[in-house]
Amino acid sequence: MPGRPVLAGILLAMAHATAVHADTQSEAIMAILAKADADYGEYLSGQCATCHHAQGKSNGIPSVLGLPDVYLVQTILEYKNARAERTNPTMVNIAKNLSDEEIGSLAKFLSTQKAE
Ligand code: HEC
Repeated sequence: MPGRPVLAGILLAMAHATAVHADTQSEAIMAILAKADADYGEYLSGQCATCHHAQGKSNGIPSVLGLPDVYLVQTILEYKNARAERTNPTMVNIAKNLSDEEIGSLAKFLSTQKAE
């Protein structure tokens, strides 16, 4: 089977690329969180509360309170790039208008809040 080693090589290369990508992504998220300011996040979060209520899911809109900050940054970045099933037009529009500093600050603040 002359094709096998080539295929294995391609699969290995793909696995490697995915791992490198994941590392770069989590480093980027950590860098964003390192510059985050929870007070600024609290101020910014006013614009989220109109849709995201304190309680669980309502009208298809999940609560974003008390979620891990890393998850929040990653999710908002996914909307910003309309990536990984995160293509909801409302959230994509909102995320596109947020800078890294704003995303980090929102995540830091929201992660400290308690869902009711
Ligand atoms: C106009 C309504 C609206 C506003 C305002 C809004 N969102 Fe959303 N948000 C949604 C909807 C709808 C979803 C679910 C979209 C989907 O199905 O992917 C969502 C999903 C999310 C999610 C994913 C939650 C999860 O666990 O899947 C996060 C995080 C989020 N929003 C953060 C924010 C932040 C931060 C703000 C304020 C800057 C904000 N949203 C403002 C409507 C809104």
